[in-house]
Amino acid sequence: MSLTVLGIESSCDETSAAVVRGREVLSNVIASQLDVHERFGGVVPELASRAHLEAIVPMVRRALQEASVTLDDLDGIAATCGPGLIGALLVGLNFAKALAASRSLPFIGVNHLDGHLNAGFLEAGTSLEYPFVALLVSGGHTHTYDATGFGAYESIGRTRDDAAGEAFDKVAKLLGLGYPGGPIIDRIAANGDPNAFAFPRAMKKSDDFSFSGLKTAVRVATNELDDLQPHVADLAASFQEAVVDVLVDKTLRAAKKRGRERVVVSGGVAANSRLREKMASAAAEAGIEPHFPSPILCTDNAAMIAYVGAQHLGSGSGSALDLNAASVLALV
Ligand code: KG4
Ligand code: ZN
Repeated sequence: MSLTVLGIESSCDETSAAVVRGREVLSNVIASQLDVHERFGGVVPELASRAHLEAIVPMVRRALQEASVTLDDLDGIAATCGPGLIGALLVGLNFAKALAASRSLPFIGVNHLDGHLNAGFLEAGTSLEYPFVALLVSGGHTHTYDATGFGAYESIGRTRDDAAGEAFDKVAKLLGLGYPGGPIIDRIAANGDPNAFAFPRAMKKSDDFSFSGLKTAVRVATNELDDLQPHVADLAASFQEAVVDVLVDKTLRAAKKRGRERVVVSGGVAANSRLREKMASAAAEAGIEPHFPSPILCTDNAAMIAYVGAQHLGSGSGSALDLNAASVLALV
């Protein structure tokens, strides 16, 4: 029998609650704080914590309602315990602990990155199985892993400076496009020429990534233009192409080197349409099966947390109620 688990995610600027049974997502509700942080051009931690406090009870109620379950139907509660903003994490984590204690339900703290890495299993009708090479690309992480089983991950490469999502957000700011930059650049780049500007593809021979030089190259290019406006779409497209080329090359190279037949791309940047398109065609050419969770499962969501929690609870492990949140938490 598959476990029915309530998941709670509050590591950054999304308050999310979900109910998952096995690989089935019964509900996955997300309250975005975009309107809270937008005018500051980035996430303000204290405001994030307060917004989580306001949203947590309504989100959990809605998740249960939409899943047509009550607290009595749950086999356990999972919450993100790190990495992320400490005040934000504490809201979801402490709520989950209190709810679990009050209902005498098993409780488990989940690593946010483990959630992203396993999000592909929640895709309806997916044929995904281990082993695979995972590319985890979000606002805080750019990392490739060799995943041979649940919890059996080996680190392959990681960013030495900015995360890919961070680079999208910073370049969007530079181009005067709003926040968060990823989705905006994705949209604007569709009208630009990806070859208009020759931006660097860094660390070609290494498994690691670096995006700070690319960001500087975009800044230098913009400074050289008398009028930025007519070139924004070309700059966005050329920048995006440079990021995508590096992500695709390094992920597929890692998969080939390890003899893996599948790659899974997850995290917020995995929602990028050019990355999905280029990874899909390059993987097909290499005889590798690409898996992309649908965009709602790529960005922060509680379904992935519930799923990982259910795997742990199903094998008999749980967390103590004195588990603390951790702003830095490695996956391996
Ligand atoms: O996984 P996520 O929701 O939160 C973190 O754990 O960081 O990722 C957020 C990041 C942001 O940097 C955002 O700009 C980026 O994902 N992102 C995208 C797209 N959608 C979100 N980047 C490129 N293209 C997109 N369509
Ligand atoms: Zn995330």
